Formats: sequence, structure tokens, C-alpha cells
Amino acid sequence: MSSHDTKRRILVTSALPYANGAIHLGHLVEYIQTDIWVRFQKLRGHECYYVCADDAHGTAIMLKAEELGISPEQQIERVNAEHRADFSRFLIEFDNYHSTHSPENRELSEHIYLRLRDNGHIATREINQLYDPEKQLFLADRYVVGTCPRCKAEGQYGDNCEVCGATYSPSELIDPKSAISGATPVEKSSTHYFFTLPDFSDFLSQWLSDGHVAPEVANKLREWLDVGLKEWDISRDAPYFGFEIPDAPGKYFYVWLDAPIGYMASFKNLCERTDITFDDFWQRDSTAELYHFIGKDIVNFHALFWPAMLESAGYRTPTKICVHGFLTVNGKKMSKSRGTFINAGTYLEHLDPEYLRYYFAGKLSSGVEDLDLNLEDFVQRVNSDLVGKVVNIASRCAKFITRDHDGLLDETIAEPALWEQTVAGGESIAALYENRDFGKAMREIMALADAANEYIAAKEPWKLSKDPDKAAEVRGICSLGINIFRALCIYLKPVLPAVAVQAEAFLNDPLHWDATIEPLLGHTIETFKPMMQRVDKDKVDSMINASKEEAPAINSPSTETATIENPAIDVPAIESIAAEINFDDFMKVDLRVAKIVSATAVEGADKLLQLTLDIGSETRNVFSGIKSSYKPEDLEGRLTVMVANLAPRKMRFGLSEGMVLAAGDDEGIYLLSPDSGAQPGQRIT
Ligand code: MSP
Ligand code: ZN
Repeated sequence: MSSHDTKRRILVTSALPYANGAIHLGHLVEYIQTDIWVRFQKLRGHECYYVCADDAHGTAIMLKAEELGISPEQQIERVNAEHRADFSRFLIEFDNYHSTHSPENRELSEHIYLRLRDNGHIATREINQLYDPEKQLFLADRYVVGTCPRCKAEGQYGDNCEVCGATYSPSELIDPKSAISGATPVEKSSTHYFFTLPDFSDFLSQWLSDGHVAPEVANKLREWLDVGLKEWDISRDAPYFGFEIPDAPGKYFYVWLDAPIGYMASFKNLCERTDITFDDFWQRDSTAELYHFIGKDIVNFHALFWPAMLESAGYRTPTKICVHGFLTVNGKKMSKSRGTFINAGTYLEHLDPEYLRYYFAGKLSSGVEDLDLNLEDFVQRVNSDLVGKVVNIASRCAKFITRDHDGLLDETIAEPALWEQTVAGGESIAALYENRDFGKAMREIMALADAANEYIAAKEPWKLSKDPDKAAEVRGICSLGINIFRALCIYLKPVLPAVAVQAEAFLNDPLHWDATIEPLLGHTIETFKPMMQRVDKDKVDSMINASKEEAPAINSPSTETATIENPAIDVPAIESIAAEINFDDFMKVDLRVAKIVSATAVEGADKLLQLTLDIGSETRNVFSGIKSSYKPEDLEGRLTVMVANLAPRKMRFGLSEGMVLAAGDDEGIYLLSPDSGAQPGQRIT
């Protein structure tokens, strides 16, 4: 329970997003949840700081930069700017947003590592791993592909088979290949550094019983303790983008070692710019509270490894690890081909961020269940609750106060019981916010809105206002309506900060959430302006279509793309190189020289051009995602190469009868063309 008597000091974090990809709606569950909680604490007058950073290290980021032909530093700088912009447009307000590739983090990581070492919690030993002799790097399991030793499915990753579910070590794969270079990996040994986690079994067992995680999470983690903790490998060999281990040249901290330390580092960076004292929040006997908001996939790092590290290094441990579930869209895993893998930036091109903040708030609880963004329900909820219930109260009442009373609210409350009920609701709503039961809080707020609307509907001020003798009564009803609207805006302020700003301007009053909310009496308000548009269903559809078109391949085959990365590894899944094919397989592909007879933009598609291709014997209609790089008129008459025997594919815009060949990525698209002299219809071999 939050209370105004005692001012709490609270440090809050969200998990650090990887610096190799865009923020998507799944991530936003977490950042919106955390931001609401932080805004609530601040609104209640507590000293609360919210820090985050990009998780900038690891093999995936190194390879991503290489693929783009830039340095890892350039890569993480680019992504950092994008992440900051996305968060800020979603009204996620960090007190500091930093990077794990920072001087503060290097210093703290070295310092913590040296403490672990000096306490005898670092062990070294030789391990054997697969090594890419061409790229000259050790291959994490995910970077090895081969044939499953059990079911013989091809193209499986080094840790498990997606076809039969078998788990194995990469050296058991049949015909293993490096997913990076295609080379056959060799076994190689090297020295690794381990954090001796088993030393902390008793400590962690106790810690898990002390209420720092939800019981369901503690139970799951206790299973790990029961089978026995293993030493945790915290080193990686060069080349690796990260921090070199101080007493071990050529060895780097594994990304998951310095990532949580990034929370401290971001906060340290904040302290250096302000008068906040770092030690007040991190020293062992600190009375400040520390909350980490994370997804269920990274619980082991936060509720086992991290408290053990902090304990060994002599720091305080977290007050709570707040774990949420995963986002599904329309009941299914987010999918690129269905257009439900929606990036933050794409959402913002079509819809207002506060719709999503409210919708997620309505779905969030303190539990770890997954939550679903059902797009029909989304439109329905936002329109009926925010526009239809809350804003409606003000829009129904304001005009009578403005028109007939110069904006001056009544001196008294017309229906004290209704007002009391609204104010009394505040304590329970606050308790729900505190416990992260945002969904229940939203329902209580809407119940108060319903009561206000029923009151206004029963009184019918619009009818009474026609009778000049009833002016005082109308003023009483509408002043109460406005006051209830204000209380609801206070309760919703953590969720809807931009609406709150507009409400503050309309009400001429900064919205504070004091222990008891006093009504505005004899107070002048401003003219009402609509504060929120209804959600337009068409815009939701265009967002989905835009997301479909963002699917990576130029010719966008309808493959499903997994969204959830394996938490136990430092790298998100990468696209594996295609399995080897023989000459006959290659000959099955009918490649032809094609002449582009006409090219036109496709209405309703940002990325597609419709091409008419002449392949000698016939013409073909093909949709191709090359609009960003070519003007249709420049293509007409040009020769290119097409796959002529690809099964026709029905698209939203019509039938696509084949595909043209192009190279490219986000940076640009390059259509292939034969040298001059080639004739439409000639076969390419
Ligand atoms: N870099 C690590 C975290 C290091 S914290 C010291 C990481 N990054 S992440 O970008 O993959 O995920 C960031 C957060 O977003 C995680 O808490 C993760 O659980 C959450 N989510 C990522 N996808 C999600 C959904 N689809 N749904 C809900 N949360 C999701 O993990
Ligand atoms: Zn298999």
C-alpha cells in the first residue's frame, strides 16, 4: 500500500532491449507496464527513478553490424537513437536511458567481477566447443545448423530440433555447418570462466521464499534448485563485442554478465548528472526499494544469477522481480505474414499511443499469464471506455458551465454521496496500481465512470437547461460531472499522460493524486475541446497491412517467423543458410529473362509494384516489393530475371505468377538484369 505519510525511495528498471532490432508491441507490454507503475509512484509523491539502457553486447550485434558493413559501435548508436525515439513517442519516460557499452558499465562490471573472483566465486576450466575455422570464432549452439540426429530433419539448430523436439549438443548434429560461413565446424578447446552458482543454493532458496518473486515464479525456479545449480559460464572468446575480462586477455564477459550490471550503470550515470547518491540505492543495507520488470523468458538471469552476483559482490538484492507474460495478437503468436508482428514505429504511423497504453493496462495483472491484443476488442474497448465513458462526461457537462456560467463551477457538490463514492474509490484503485493489478484498477475506474454517466443521464441537464428557472440545478449537475471527470483523469494519469495534460488545461488545474481528492468549487474551467479521437477500424487494418509488407523478403513468401527468442542464449535466432542442394534441385528452378512491359504502383500497398513481364511465350503478372527503390516508369522496357515456374500465389491485390530476382535489404533493393543482348524468355542456367 502506498501512503503519503512515508516517502519511499524507489529505483525501477525494465529489461534492456537488444541493440540489434526494433522495438515491437511485445516489448511494449513491458515498457508500458513499467512506465505506468513509475508514473503512479511519482504521482503519489514518492521519490522514484526509472532507468533502462540498450543491451549492446554479444555475437548477434557483432554479426549484425558486419552484415550492414558498419562497426558495432555505429550499429548500437543507430539503434539507441531509434529505441529512444520509439519509447518517447509511446510516452515512456525514463529518468535515464543508457547503454551497456558505457564507461560506467565497464567499470562496474570489472569491479563486480573482481569481487566475485576475490571471494572465490570464479572458477576456470577448459571446455570443448565447435569452432568455425573460416570465420575463426567459436559457435554458440544457435550458430550451428545440421541434420537432426533423431528424425533426420535438415536445417536444425545446434541445441534442439524444431521438427521432433529432440535436444542435443551441436556436435551430435549430422553434417553440422556454421550458420555464419557455411564451413564445417571443428572441435576446439579453450579456457572458460565460471561463476560458482552452486555456492549460492542456500542463499537463493531462502531468497525465493522471501516474497521477492510471485509464488508461481518461485516454484518454477525452485525446480532448478532441486536438480542442482550448475556453474555459470560467464566468458566468451575473442572475437566478441563486449568488455574484456580484466585478468584474462582475449576473454570477454558473456553479454548476460554485464547486462544486469547495466541497470546499475545507467543509474550511476544518472547520479553523476544529478544529486542522487548511488550508494543510497545499492549498498547492502539500503532502505530504498529496487524493482526489476521483466518478461517470463529471462527469469533465471534475474532471480537466480543476478541476486547471487549482488550477494557475492556485497550489494543489496532486488526488492521484487516483477514478471509479466508474453503478448499474443488475436490469440496467436505474433507473425510477420499475418501482419501481427507490429513494430512500435508502424503502430505510431496509424494509431495513438494512448490507445495501446490503455488497452495493455486493461489486460495487465501481477501474474505471468500471456496477454492477448485482440484487435476487434481493442477498437471496442478504447472507444467505449475512453471516448464513450470518460471523455463523454466532460463533453456532456462542459458546455452548460461555459455557456451559461462563464465557466465558473458551482460552490457546492450537488450529490455528495456520488462524489464520496468517487473519492473513496481512489484508495482501492491506488492499491491495485501498487500491486500491478492494472486491469482491475481500470475496471474500477470505469465503474465510477458508469455511475457518473448514469447520474447525468437520469438528470438530463440538456432538457433542464431549456428552462431558465433550472439554471442553478443544471450548474450543480454539470459541476459534479466535471469534478468526477477530474477525479477519473487523476486515476488515469499514469496510463494516459497526454490526455491528462489536455485535461489539466481544460480544468485549469494540475492533476495531483492527494490522499483525499478535494473537489474544485467556485473554480473557472476553460472551453472543452475533444481530447481523444475514436479508434478508426480502418487504421487498424492499414497498420496490419503495413506490417505484412514489412516482412523481410522482397518477394515476401508467406513464412511464419518465430518471435520468441531462446532466453538461455545471448543471440536471437538468425536465418540459417539454406541447406545444400544438388544440380538436379537447381535445375528444377526455371529462371527466365523477362522484359518489364509495364510497372504500376499498387493502391493500398506501400512497398509493392505490379509488374507485367514478357517472357517470350507469354506475359506474367507479378507483385514485387521493390517500390521503395524504383519508380515504375523507370522500369518499363527493362530486362530482368524471373522465376517462371513458381506456383502462383494469391495475394491481397491479385494473383502473383512468379517472382523477379533482386538483391537487397533495408538499405536498398537491386533488381538483377542480364547483360544487353539477352532476349525475353531465354532460359538462365
Ligand atoms: N537483452 C535482454 C534483457 C537483458 S536485461 C538485463 C532481452 N532483450 S529483449 O529485447 O529480447 O527483450 C526485452 C524485454 O522484452 C524482455 O523482458 C522480454 O521478456 C520482453 N519481451 C520481448 N518480447 C516480448 C513479447 N512478445 N511479449 C512480452 N514481452 C516480450 O531479453
Ligand atoms: Zn528431429
